[in-house]
Amino acid sequence: MDKVTIFGAGHVGATTAFYLALSATLEVALVDVEEKAAGLALDIAQSLSYTGSGSKLAGGTDTGLAAGSDLVIITAGFPRLPGMSRLDLTSKNLPIISAIAGDVARLAPEAVVIVVTNPVDEMTYLAWKKLGSASRSVMGMAGVLDTSRFIYFLDELAGIPPRDTSAMVLGTHGDDMVPLIDWSRAGDSSLAEAVGSGIEEVVERTRDGGAEIVSHMKTGSAYFAPAVSIGVMALAVLGDAGRVLPVSAFLDGEYGVSGIFLGVPARLGRAGVVEILELPLSEREREALSRSARGVAGRVRELEAVAGDESD
Ligand code: LAC
Repeated sequence: MDKVTIFGAGHVGATTAFYLALSATLEVALVDVEEKAAGLALDIAQSLSYTGSGSKLAGGTDTGLAAGSDLVIITAGFPRLPGMSRLDLTSKNLPIISAIAGDVARLAPEAVVIVVTNPVDEMTYLAWKKLGSASRSVMGMAGVLDTSRFIYFLDELAGIPPRDTSAMVLGTHGDDMVPLIDWSRAGDSSLAEAVGSGIEEVVERTRDGGAEIVSHMKTGSAYFAPAVSIGVMALAVLGDAGRVLPVSAFLDGEYGVSGIFLGVPARLGRAGVVEILELPLSEREREALSRSARGVAGRVRELEAVAGDESD
């Protein structure tokens, strides 16, 4: 049975554990600094009695629960509150990610790692540095979530049903995310052609999708769509069927970008990111992706300066 450990038993971590336990037969460990992880794991385990799932759950504060994991998912950290940008979270979440990555390097050095904590492209970089593992075995979750929102708003605002849509959101998980409107299709047309000027609202709602939910929830951020997005990535890794999904992956020259994690289409498998696909993007899509990459690169430099100060 494959083993998945989820660090962080907040709404995102707990819902991911629930989704994964129901979707496949897995050993799922839920680890949190708070004792509630043990209760949530028991609750999920008991929910399986009627479902036919053979998943096994464990939970608690002991990081040793992660030992021997095939896959580790890091959701721990402070959530985004109203008025806070994902970047405001950087200094708060940096020491948390650092500590967890250190534990994972010790307890499950072979694991593929999916980072979810915001700001995700920057936190994935930090986790990778701290893990000291191959860049391809580490990835961040955002593109699958942003794409689910893009597909939703294309249906809601422009009447294009998901079954006719082939769409993807690349770039960073933030204001510079890049919903592809020339590459993505609605039937045989590009989205720009199919939706016309209405595409601007679709793009804006997609970009602000996380903040829109925070504005209603007040004390937390989205978790159902994030959990399913993480689950889809986890099952693609464990299932090893070569599924292509937009993930924050380490770039080494692809799309003209090097040395950072950024949302790009990637083929996933047991080794993590097995291949990065270079789509034939339009000129404006390439430019938007470059802008996104420059933003992440600048923030990673700042983060390295802060991380360096903290380890002095
Ligand atoms: C969102 C937050 C979690 O996009 O970044 O919902």
